[in-house]
Amino acid sequence: MFASLKSIGAYIPSKKLTNSDLEKMVDTSDEWIVQRTGIKSRYLARDDEYTSDMAYEAAKVAIDRAGISRDEVDAIICATITPDYFCMPSTACVVADKLGIKGAMAFDISAACSGFVYALNIAKSMIESGMRKHVLIIGAEKMSSIVDYNDRTTCVLFGDGAGAAIIGATDDKSRSILDVKSSSDGEYQDFLVTEACGSRNPCSKDVLKNGLQYLKMKGNETFKLAVNTLTQDVFEILKNNDIKSEDIDWFVPHQANYRIISAVAKKLGMSEDRVVLTVEKYGNTSAASIPMALNNWYEDGKIKNGDLLLLDTFGGGLTWGSALLYFNGD
Ligand code: ACO
Repeated sequence: MFASLKSIGAYIPSKKLTNSDLEKMVDTSDEWIVQRTGIKSRYLARDDEYTSDMAYEAAKVAIDRAGISRDEVDAIICATITPDYFCMPSTACVVADKLGIKGAMAFDISAACSGFVYALNIAKSMIESGMRKHVLIIGAEKMSSIVDYNDRTTCVLFGDGAGAAIIGATDDKSRSILDVKSSSDGEYQDFLVTEACGSRNPCSKDVLKNGLQYLKMKGNETFKLAVNTLTQDVFEILKNNDIKSEDIDWFVPHQANYRIISAVAKKLGMSEDRVVLTVEKYGNTSAASIPMALNNWYEDGKIKNGDLLLLDTFGGGLTWGSALLYFNGD
């Protein structure tokens, strides 16, 4: 028995924030943002719309497309760094309640942009061990809740949204998840950090006054590590599974920066017509970026049942990962 990705769904919030909107907020320009990142717009959640609301919308679509009932979902893993609540309850439990699912194992994982690939890894193990039958995995982020819209080095990069998938079982290896790699190196923990509102520096008036609750990133240092680490990681997963880059139908990278994506794709020898690219319109939606990108290509009729996908991701922690899988949705 193998694990398989049976469906994909996503939710994109309605508030569009363009580069020209950002030009009015901070000292930046459309030219700088496009040249350095490839981003032209991103979508933000409403003030009264939370990570669980977006996750719920994406999950509904993924469950329907998998052709299962909500009662058949026996585990929910939500990857997020912007949960509804600090500590508890988990966003996965809130989503379970919204879906009317009772009794399923439900928990969040925190692996920043790598969260969806980490969740895929855990779900694969749960299915292959026979522990669970249908695992709902979600990547959902309200990045606008931790972004400082006075900081031009970060506010131009991030957007909100959610993506979800159902992982189930198959006997057919040519429709299965072949391999998932998930890695980390805490030495670089200060490259991407929200300094306060954890146990180390609990929320206080001083924290809020100094904006320590916001995300900070050493962008350039992260960029350099990302290209090298991702290239090595995707070459390793291909080699371990005896697959060549020309066998891949779609390269589905984390949508952080067009320059990172194109550098890795070039090293893989993948032409751009086989690269899934949504960074231009959604920006970086952290754990939601890969499932949102997958869903976009699926809804456009480009990704089809049996297509071989190569996923790669890189984010705070530092964390990174890759996955090789056949798409098994209808
Ligand atoms: N508009 C105009 N100028 C800007 C802006 C802006 N929005 N932001 C920074 N600049 C300036 C800087 O101040 C700097 O000016 P200086 O030379 O006078 O000091 C100059 O532009 C260059 O800045 P760099 O940071 O060196 O620019 P770089 O080319 O590295 O691009 C970026 C920055 C886009 C952040 C890039 O480094 C990047 O994409 N990094 C990786 C991001 C990533 O992959 N993160 C991991 C996932 S995120 C997660 O896990 C939540």
